[in-house]
Amino acid sequence: MNKKWISFEGGEGSGKTTLIKALEKRFKEAGQSVLTTREPGGVPVAEKIRHILLDKTKDHMDPMTEAILFAASRRQHLVEKVLPALEEGKIVLMDRYVDSSVVYQGYARGLGMERIAKLNEYATSGMMPSLTFYLDLDPEVGMKRIQTNKRDQNRLDLESMDFHHKIRQGYQLLCEREERIHCIDADQSVEALLEEVWKVIQEKLG
Ligand code: TMP
Repeated sequence: MNKKWISFEGGEGSGKTTLIKALEKRFKEAGQSVLTTREPGGVPVAEKIRHILLDKTKDHMDPMTEAILFAASRRQHLVEKVLPALEEGKIVLMDRYVDSSVVYQGYARGLGMERIAKLNEYATSGMMPSLTFYLDLDPEVGMKRIQTNKRDQNRLDLESMDFHHKIRQGYQLLCEREERIHCIDADQSVEALLEEVWKVIQEKLG
């Protein structure tokens, strides 16, 4: 656990990326050195794995293959980018981490949350952020946001609405179990979200 390591989780269109950008700005204004990074990807090997994972044109991918590829990409990103930044004393703001796999592959794909948590514990040597924000949003609203923002749709965006509802259920289950995860209502302005998140960071991490 590292006090300066914060991750962000949520379904498609929940606004993680926008919030992270605003938070990065806030930290920098406060004179802090920050690394913002996303999963899957962030370093060359992990970006290549991301390409395989999110490529819409690929044939059917076995769910466990998918889970292992996410874990492999995570390991590379952790070792090559996250740990060196933490060692340098930077604050690390991370767009997705282990919880994404536990929910997407473990819960929604049905591989089992415990099983995927174990796979990832192995892949990450058990290294976890000290605080995680889950941006809770009705998937119908999230998918509409993606279409309005004209963001490129990836292979996972193209899953059925049923799948996206399962993602929300999975995250809500995880929030009940994990004290580390702070659930926030994502159906509000980025300014309001930022204030809420900033307050929690001050309270929990100082
Ligand atoms: P994003 O860059 O929009 O967050 O897209 C990444 C997609 O990959 C998103 O649909 C969530 C999915 N994903 C998983 O299924 N498992 C994982 O472990 C991670 C990190 C992402």
